[in-house]
Amino acid sequence: MFVVTGATGNVGRALVRTLYEAGEQVTAVARRITAADAPDGVRTVAADLTDPATLGPALRGARAAFLLVPPVLAPEADAGVMAAVEAAGVGRIVVLTSQSAATRPESPGHGLRVRHFEDQAMASGLGWTVIRPGGFASNAYAWAESVRARREVFAPFADVPLPVVHPDDIAEVGAATLRDPAHDGRTYVLTGPELITPRQMTAALGDALGEELAFTELTRAEARARMLAFMPEAVADGTLDILGEPTADEQKISPDVERVLGRAPHSFATWAGQNAAAFG
Ligand SMILES: NC(=O)c1ccc[n+]([C@@H]2O[C@H](COP(=O)([O-])OP(=O)(O)OC[C@H]3O[C@@H](n4cnc5c(N)ncnc54)[C@H](OP(=O)(O)O)[C@@H]3O)[C@@H](O)[C@H]2O)c1
Repeated sequence: MFVVTGATGNVGRALVRTLYEAGEQVTAVARRITAADAPDGVRTVAADLTDPATLGPALRGARAAFLLVPPVLAPEADAGVMAAVEAAGVGRIVVLTSQSAATRPESPGHGLRVRHFEDQAMASGLGWTVIRPGGFASNAYAWAESVRARREVFAPFADVPLPVVHPDDIAEVGAATLRDPAHDGRTYVLTGPELITPRQMTAALGDALGEELAFTELTRAEARARMLAFMPEAVADGTLDILGEPTADEQKISPDVERVLGRAPHSFATWAGQNAAAFG
């Protein structure tokens, strides 16, 4: 049995489905999960990664656990998470962090936070694999409301390209690494197959919808004000740094999806085609 935390999210939902379709037993975990959030036959358990004492019932009997770094800053809970995994007799973990662990190690809302979680995982004595994705294709869901209402995308840094990654690729790498201990001790950086700008993503979304979408570039300050409605200040500032002034490493296309899965990563256009209904 495998435990998947963050099981109602972009990555976790796809990971639960991938494992389930491969015939594995799965326990799906999030704070507010219900049976309706997972396929029939998948056990769902509500638990909170910032309160490690709640994790025990979910973890019991698992071969390996997929852990994401909870967005709420609770570094003191991280060691408790590893201890809960060990106490439940789970030998291996796959940890979903972020590329910023390496590229923005001092950024409070990005690398600093996830590095702490990684450090605890690596020091735990458990078998570990670390997955460090770049920005997700699914961040474009933030555009859904204005596309639905006005057929328009509002975004900063219109012409700065990044190799955004499809969450299904992260999920598939998660499934592969959970199932095979040969990945223990490895760190994988996951990106998409190509550099793409917000303006080009808008065009790809328009192609998926069969109509042209307008694009309005926001200033950094305008984008920040919008982001503060749904993320902490430190995370918004760190994200804007990456979107506006990516480092050379943040613009590199990583070979790791292909290395693990034996196929190229999916493009943003593929994600847009699969998720066009959210923008319809
Ligand atoms: N978006 C990006 O560009 C990007 C880039 C690099 C890394 N990441 C990281 O990748 C991870 C997964 O992203 P995603 O898009 O799949 O996330 P998401 O769609 O925002 O979903 C988050 C999932 O985690 C659960 N969760 C949140 N806090 C929790 C807690 N304290 N305890 C247990 N479960 C909790 C949520 O359910 P409940 O709210 O019900 O608990 C949900 O299932 C995140 O940690 C994110 O920081 C994202």
